[in-house]
Amino acid sequence: MARGSRKVAIIGAGNVGATCAFVLAERKIGEIVLLDIFEGFAKGKALDMSQGGKILNYDGKIIGTKDYADIAGSEVVIVTSGFPRQPGMSREDLIGKNAEIVSQVGEGIKKYAPESIIIMVTNPLDLMTYHMQKVTGFSHKKVIGQAGILDSARMTHFVADALGCSNEDVQAMVLGGHGDTMVPLPRYTTVGGIPITQLLSREEIEAISTRTANGGGEIVKLLERGSAFYAPGSAAAIMAESVLNDRRRLLPCSAYLNGEYGMEDVYIGVPIILGKNGVEEIIQLDLKEIEINKLQNSGSFYKEQLQSILQY
Ligand code: APR
Repeated sequence: MARGSRKVAIIGAGNVGATCAFVLAERKIGEIVLLDIFEGFAKGKALDMSQGGKILNYDGKIIGTKDYADIAGSEVVIVTSGFPRQPGMSREDLIGKNAEIVSQVGEGIKKYAPESIIIMVTNPLDLMTYHMQKVTGFSHKKVIGQAGILDSARMTHFVADALGCSNEDVQAMVLGGHGDTMVPLPRYTTVGGIPITQLLSREEIEAISTRTANGGGEIVKLLERGSAFYAPGSAAAIMAESVLNDRRRLLPCSAYLNGEYGMEDVYIGVPIILGKNGVEEIIQLDLKEIEINKLQNSGSFYKEQLQSILQY
């Protein structure tokens, strides 16, 4: 693909947005637009990243802006604008502040990039993805949330650490909402094709699952200001790449359910095929009763919370 022939917009030039832009730049994905309400912040990061091109051998155009007209023609828009958690906060504590931001951003995307596919990162993720779809009126298949890739990557790290093996051979699967109710699936987590249930004890798997579910909180506590961004920003970039190159990767993402897994009218993390049309397919796993119950509990938790975003 020729230089600059693809265009990706990233809304929010903060920690997650800038990390995502940097990963995409390094992967030579095309033109990148970084948009933030603080224009200088977006422009400064775009210029810094452009200059880094010589060092890391990329040269696609990267611009910073606060003007939504600049996102016109973007095939993918990644939304990272909004407040991160502080110690002691749950992701759901961010609803009030971030729903309003998502409403504003959604209007801009609807006007200037009506054909785009939207990848949400702003928390609380599953609720903000639902809200973005409502604000834009885009097809549900074109509004997707990033969370499962990150949660699975966290689980992968803990498994690789416990076994003293490479990340590369670990394939973890974490479904459900991006919060305390997430559902790590040890039966579907393998190392070189071998389920971890054959490699680790029940206690070790339990500890890994718990640490995965608290993965974001552990980092918030350590950072003391703000939340994780290297892994979340990279995960959003990988989703964008799967869409732009129509790779049809099978990835856990927050997708709209309309009967799948026995749930309706809710966004929640499930395995999907991610391609040029967004959600190409939702993969329905054959879950055991205890697993499906956990997934449905997670879905119910977010469905109850949907009322609280209707006012924004
Ligand atoms: N329009 C555009 N940008 C905005 C808006 C808006 N209405 N409101 C805030 N922003 C920008 C801020 O100016 C800031 O640069 O969003 C950026 C957020 O960056 P950070 O504060 O560094 O937060 P970050 O760590 O990137 O997290 C962003 O992603 O993972 C989630 O929970 C996290 O909701 C949070 C989001």
